[in-house]
Amino acid sequence: MEKRFNIVNIDVEEYIQSTLKPLEGFLKEMSEHAKKNNIPVAKLETIRALEVIFNLKKPKAVLELGCAIGFTSIFFAGYLDKSGYIDTVENDPDMVKIAKSNIKNSGFEKTINIIYAEAYDYLMNIDKKYDIIFIDAAKGQYEKYFDICSNLLNEKGVIIADNVLYRGMVAKKDKIPHRQATLVERLRSFLDKITKDERFDTSILSIADGLSISVKK
Ligand SMILES: C[S@@+](CC[C@H](N)C(=O)[O-])C[C@H]1O[C@@H](n2cnc3c(N)ncnc32)[C@H](O)[C@@H]1O
Repeated sequence: MEKRFNIVNIDVEEYIQSTLKPLEGFLKEMSEHAKKNNIPVAKLETIRALEVIFNLKKPKAVLELGCAIGFTSIFFAGYLDKSGYIDTVENDPDMVKIAKSNIKNSGFEKTINIIYAEAYDYLMNIDKKYDIIFIDAAKGQYEKYFDICSNLLNEKGVIIADNVLYRGMVAKKDKIPHRQATLVERLRSFLDKITKDERFDTSILSIADGLSISVKK
C-alpha cells in the first residue's frame, strides 16, 4: 500500500501560517473588527489561497454568496480584470449596512454591487454568467446553490465554496453531535456530488475550515 503522510497536524499548520503574508491597511482593520465582533469572515490562509486563484484567473465577473461586512469582496476587488465587477449577496440587513459603508471607504464602490437578498432567490432570478462564484452563505444550502451556479458560469468558470469541512466534522468517522448532524450530512452530500460531477474538476483543500474548488471543464 502507498505510504501515507498525515500532513494536517499542528506543527505543519503553524508553520504554514507563519509563512502567510499578513493583511495590511483597511483589510487588516476589517479583519480585526470582524474578530472582535465575532463576525465570521474568511481566514488568512483562505484569503491567500483565493488570491492565487484570482491572480491566475483575473476574472471580469464575480459572484459572492454571503457578503457579511464586505471583507472578501473588497479583497477580491484588487484582483479583477480591468472593467471587472463583483456582485455580492447578503440577507442580513445589518451586515448590508456595514458592508456598504466599508465598500465606500475602500474606494471600490463602483466595482462592488451589494444585493440585499436571499442567496437562493437571487440565483433563481438572474440571467447572468460569472467567471468565479464564491459560495459562503447558508452552509446547509450549498448543494442547491451549486446546482444553479453550475449553469451560471462562463467557459472555464470556477466555483469555490468555503467551510466545506465544517470544523473537521465532515471527515470524522465518530458520531456527530445531534445539533450539527444535519448540516454535516448536507455538506457530505454536497462534496460527494461535486467530486463526482463530470462537468467539473474539483479539489478539496484542508485549509482553515475547508475549501472546495471546482473548475468547469
Ligand atoms: C461566513 S459569512 C460571509 C463572510 C464573507 N464572505 C467574508 O469572508 O468576508 C456568511 C454570510 O452569509 C450570510 N447569509 C447566510 N445565509 C444566507 C442566505 N440564505 N442568503 C444570503 N446571505 C446569507 C450571513 O448573514 C453572513 O453574513
